[in-house]
Amino acid sequence: MSIRSAAIIGIEAHPVDIETDISFGIHAFTLVGLPDVSVRESKERIRAALRRVNLPFPRTRITVNLAPANVKKQGPVFDLPIAISLLCASGELPQEAFADTIIIGELSLDGTIRRVPGVLAVALLARKAGITSILVPEGNASEAAAVRGITVFPARHLADVIDHARGIRPIIPREMSAEARLIGAGVDLNCVRGQEAAKRGLEIAAAGSHNLLLKGPPGTGKTLLARTLPTILPPLSEDESVEATAIASVAGVLPEGAGLLTERPFRSPHHSASAAALVGGGNPPRPGEVTLAHRGVLFLDELPEFSKHCLDHLRQPLEDGSITISRASSSIRFPSRCMLVAAMNPCPCGFADDPGNRCTCAERSRAQYARKLSGPLLDRFDLVISVPAIESDKLLGTDLPEGSEFVRARVLAARMIQSERYKGTPYPANADLPASVLEQFCPLDPESKNLLRSALDAGHLSARGLSRIRKVARTVADLSGESILQVHHVAEALRFRGTVIR
Ligand SMILES: Nc1ncnc2c1ncn2[C@@H]1O[C@H](COP(=O)(O)OP(=O)(O)OP(=O)(O)O)[C@@H](O)[C@H]1O
Ligand SMILES: [Mg+2]
Ligand SMILES: [Zn+2]
Repeated sequence: MSIRSAAIIGIEAHPVDIETDISFGIHAFTLVGLPDVSVRESKERIRAALRRVNLPFPRTRITVNLAPANVKKQGPVFDLPIAISLLCASGELPQEAFADTIIIGELSLDGTIRRVPGVLAVALLARKAGITSILVPEGNASEAAAVRGITVFPARHLADVIDHARGIRPIIPREMSAEARLIGAGVDLNCVRGQEAAKRGLEIAAAGSHNLLLKGPPGTGKTLLARTLPTILPPLSEDESVEATAIASVAGVLPEGAGLLTERPFRSPHHSASAAALVGGGNPPRPGEVTLAHRGVLFLDELPEFSKHCLDHLRQPLEDGSITISRASSSIRFPSRCMLVAAMNPCPCGFADDPGNRCTCAERSRAQYARKLSGPLLDRFDLVISVPAIESDKLLGTDLPEGSEFVRARVLAARMIQSERYKGTPYPANADLPASVLEQFCPLDPESKNLLRSALDAGHLSARGLSRIRKVARTVADLSGESILQVHHVAEALRFRGTVIR
């Protein structure tokens, strides 16, 4: 008989069975089944932890097999299941106590059980495999408890697990608790004064899940505006929430004690981040920012500061909604369906478009700045929102701007219209429509066609830009509850195309 555990590969958990054989002979401890270095170090941690609970480490021939051998096992997550397997094999603990239970956890030398990444994925595996319970570190119990239908035993110390197995002091299962849910950290829109046009653009972007670029001089609220997005986007659906939380858990960015994420992820990597940090990488492959932003927002503040190399790497995952990382032994696919939001100044000094200030940049540095953002990347933005300097009166005004809850209600209504229209299709929102279905869902009347024709002829719009305009126009119409696309919807969409995209 064996102890069940699990290995994390990519963002999924795979079953691993741990079998321990104790036989007479010279003392030896052998781990087989592709264990990496940290798994081998387990032995020392287990030995120390057992000493703390006054149980002997058997001085015989011990062979621990992690099966199946072809599943790569990493990290210290097998400490606890190996220790339990050993105690069951030596007769210290009744094996039946752990029947139908997946066990995962790292041991520290004093026997404390440390939290580990990926526990939500393990809970999902248990549910899929019909295993009724999981025994996990206390610090991971809330995330695991978010999965319905399985019993989660939180363990603080090896001694607690031993008392539990012996029936001395059974561990009380962790229930899903509302308090354990994460509180979002978005900024409420009522903190942003003025900038009505920018707020309208933000609302359209949120309503159709469109990519957007905020452009303007320093200190006008671009970063602030971007940070309001989590508060106006629709909350995650239950499935999306499990998906996003599982990713955060595997990547080790889920706060201790957190349950399911309910607000959409908002990731804001620094411009010095490496390409691997942005799109994922390493060996074993780890998810990057674009995957952590899955179902949420990837915010690239100070866009031109990012290296061209990094921006080029981001294009494919942003376009395809997933990224595959290939290694000699395997390849792993990470999801990356997110809204791209970026902020930038129009030139290095920041004042190129500002009526109140003079741009002090040399012509050459301005051209260099513009060149850094390749056309194909700029084309990814459906809306370009200009965020100008605002008058002091507006900044000092006492009236409270409209709060996020009102905007979110309109966004939700527009999203409902979309999910109704796209029922039975794989497209959740307007931004996801491929060019092939635009005629079906965003047909243009002659007036709209004329308007777009003149924009194309004047060189204000590229072919790729054209399909983006149609989708944004569709969202504008959805926000006002109008089922037929009209020229004023297209005109507003065109206004948000700005002047940077030419
Ligand atoms: N429209 C606004 N309403 C209220 N506060 C504002 C507004 N614009 C700027 N601020 C204040 O100024 C600070 C700086 O704004 P923010 O960081 O958003 O500017 P920015 O446009 O991103 O500038 P930069 O181009 O330098 O990055 C904010 O933290 C906020 O306190
Ligand atoms: Mg800023
Ligand atoms: Zn300048």
